[in-house]
Amino acid sequence: MTAQRSNTLVVAVGLLATLALSAGCRGNKSKDPPIHPNWNMDDQQYFQAQEDNDWFPDHRAQRPLVAGTVARGLLKADDHLYRGRGADGRLVDTLPPSITLDEALLDRGERRYAIYCAPCHEQNGRGNGIIAQPGSVATGLLVKPPSYMDPRLQAMPLGYFFDVISNGKATMRPYAAQIPVEDRWAIAAWVRVLQVSERAAKADIPPAELGKLNSGGAQ
Ligand code: HEC
Repeated sequence: MTAQRSNTLVVAVGLLATLALSAGCRGNKSKDPPIHPNWNMDDQQYFQAQEDNDWFPDHRAQRPLVAGTVARGLLKADDHLYRGRGADGRLVDTLPPSITLDEALLDRGERRYAIYCAPCHEQNGRGNGIIAQPGSVATGLLVKPPSYMDPRLQAMPLGYFFDVISNGKATMRPYAAQIPVEDRWAIAAWVRVLQVSERAAKADIPPAELGKLNSGGAQ
């Protein structure tokens, strides 16, 4: 190695040591911006939401979604479950296959009904809920809720109640935003329970239950 070369090496090592020292040690606090020798593509120009971008004729940097865009997992293609309608587009009179009719469902429906519907429709579905009563502090119901025992509503398919809860009806507001889809079916099933309890005949009661009723042992 020549003397000149070794000098260059000493200078290079010295420079590197200075650089390392000036970069500081891990854990040291500094108010200066961090040393960032190699920028690669770490910091690029970008637009923020709602910023102006004159390149587009409408000046919106944030581009509108392509028509028909569906967020992942939100396709909701099941018409029976999400719209209460069959393949022919008509309202169904059955629960969606993914929902089982059992005591737990009706129990859930009863409790959700008490929260979301009974204030107007009354616990028994006759339409004289606390809000619907004359002189109620929450006056604002232009139309009194109908009774579910009304023959017109008694004849409606189950999907109709799901549809009214989801999309509202005339002056009644929709509840799709507040009530998840499974709970809307549970409530629809509970509305049906209220209706059936009104129109049920003695012959509809299973003999075992009838025995309990006759002996006064029913709860
Ligand atoms: C804020 C009061 C209010 C609440 C809460 C409410 N409704 Fe209603 N509902 C009404 C009124 C008022 C009408 C009558 C609407 C009209 O005809 O203008 C109505 C109508 C209905 C009808 C009959 C539609 C028809 O064909 O005449 C059904 C069924 C119904 N509601 C179900 C429900 C269910 C189930 C819930 C709970 C998820 C609910 N409603 C919550 C006020 C309410």
